[in-house]
Amino acid sequence: MVGVGPGDPELLTLKAVRILEKCPSWLAPAAKIGGDSTALTIVGGAVSSEGKDILVHHFPMKKVHSGTAPDPEIQQAWDKAAEWVYDQLKQGLDVALPTLGDPAIYCTGFYVYQTLLRIHPDAKVEIVPGISAIGATAAAAKMSLCLGDEELLVIPAVFENQRLRETLQQFRSLVFMKVYKSMDRIVPILKEMDLLANAVLVECTSMGEERVHHDVEGALGRKLHYFSTLIVRK
Ligand SMILES: C[S@@+](CC[C@H](N)C(=O)[O-])C[C@H]1O[C@@H](n2cnc3c(N)ncnc32)[C@H](O)[C@@H]1O
Repeated sequence: MVGVGPGDPELLTLKAVRILEKCPSWLAPAAKIGGDSTALTIVGGAVSSEGKDILVHHFPMKKVHSGTAPDPEIQQAWDKAAEWVYDQLKQGLDVALPTLGDPAIYCTGFYVYQTLLRIHPDAKVEIVPGISAIGATAAAAKMSLCLGDEELLVIPAVFENQRLRETLQQFRSLVFMKVYKSMDRIVPILKEMDLLANAVLVECTSMGEERVHHDVEGALGRKLHYFSTLIVRK
């Protein structure tokens, strides 16, 4: 599994490029049936796909809750992907799974990795870290996320309002991922807690259409890109 960074092909690591070049087979995640794979598009800016056996595999965009069984459609997608990987490995073909940002952070590829090892414990897997949107959005906003003895909380923006308030109260520095459908809910809470001036919303960082919004109220009622991250820094 290879982290390919947040968008700019220059943010792929040397190791990611080397492993992608070396692997004859690639498994590329796609959010829509028949849609493009963002990870594959990023890779395309740095590594030639000529001669590669590429499976663009659809993973349904449904919520997964830790500790509970996933929706059967999701499990099926993980199983299929894991079986394809194992099939390639059996033929002596190494597989690279390019994944957006860093594989350790909200990454579908990680479920494929876990599924593969559950079904075929003999499979050998290497994880290549990548530059996460967490650091990349902070860089775009030209800010630090934590210094000295400060802590940092990374959360998916699916918490219900009271839990959002509590976390905003408790932590000095927060990164909200997957905020694209939640800003209409989060902005009034930030306003109520007098935190609007502490918030920065970053859309599509390093993807060519990067937008850094210091006026997060402007996001109200607006359709945001899926690749949007909110930083709240007290
Ligand atoms: C499923 S998570 C994947 C995170 C990824 N593994 C990482 O390390 O960045 C998708 C969320 O990451 C954030 N994200 C990913 N790429 C981004 C980008 N280029 N600009 C802003 N946010 C991004 C958004 O919050 C998006 O909803």
